Amino acid sequence: TELHQFIRGLPKAELHLHIEGSLEPEMMFALAQKNGVKLPYASVAEVRAAYQFSDLQSFLDLYYAGAAVLQTEQDFYDLTAAYIQRALADNVRHVELFFDPQTHTARGIAIETVFAGIASALRDAKTQHGFSGSMILCFLRHLSEEDAMSTLESALPLRDAYADVWIGVGLDSSEVGNPPEKFAHVFTIAQAMGLHVVAHAGEEGPPAYIHDALDVLQVERIDHGVRAEEDPALMQQLAASRMPLTVCPLSNLKLCVVKDLRDHNLARMLRAGLCVTINSDDPSYFGGYMNDNFIATADALDLSRAELLQIARNGFEAAFVSEQQKQSWY
Ligand code: ADE
Ligand code: ZN
Repeated sequence: TELHQFIRGLPKAELHLHIEGSLEPEMMFALAQKNGVKLPYASVAEVRAAYQFSDLQSFLDLYYAGAAVLQTEQDFYDLTAAYIQRALADNVRHVELFFDPQTHTARGIAIETVFAGIASALRDAKTQHGFSGSMILCFLRHLSEEDAMSTLESALPLRDAYADVWIGVGLDSSEVGNPPEKFAHVFTIAQAMGLHVVAHAGEEGPPAYIHDALDVLQVERIDHGVRAEEDPALMQQLAASRMPLTVCPLSNLKLCVVKDLRDHNLARMLRAGLCVTINSDDPSYFGGYMNDNFIATADALDLSRAELLQIARNGFEAAFVSEQQKQSWY
């Protein structure tokens, strides 16, 4: 339709994308064969058929297992380059991608390998396509704060070599039972180093986790944040401060955070004045990249062109880039 064409044409920024979650089954199979990793699936079709999730944890179990095929710098380069090709096709101009080093270092992959592969794909895309991209290192919240701290320490020596791309830290993985305050110390240190700070909060966890991410971790954006709606005072605070929420509608649907996309609160939050953005989270697992997310949401919630434009602009407003760079996009 014409509205879909309008959406495809909008310049977009993607602020909530786990690079490991962009691993398509075809690449998973090819890398498994190349690296001699055994997968519990006989075919690409079997992998896709396994992608039926009941909650966040049921997804995370498959997502961490799939990431085991990533071993060399070239693997991380190819993964990132493939995502960028898909992003360019969707008119995504800027990405701040998440990566989970602990998933890889726990398997004996050096953190340098992870940084090098992702960063060189981002740098090549900048040169070749004018595509702008940066990296946010996420701590796995089901692990201890000591583990997060040693991950940050192992990344510190890379700070100068990756100053052009490594811009921040985040917090992901199993939310309930792993509140933001568990990571207060490591976030304080990261922020003191001049890194941007974000955290997943209010995806499955309660609104109190959003409060604590703001107050204790001092985050600059909330990833997901959809459960904020249960707390009217929090909603007012988020609107007044224009605190960005990186919402992922198809993810919320696939992980049963909402039963039906028509029940999603994205439009209500937008209309309440919150800085809502649309993102794909783990596109290969949740059945859609940026335009798929925009189109499915627009159709389910009857978003107007003005609202869709606002959502796309919110992505650039919420991006960790200079005002000058923002103005070059809108
Ligand atoms: N890791 C990858 N995707 C995630 C999500 N949606 N929530 C928490 N951790 C994640
Ligand atoms: Zn996420």
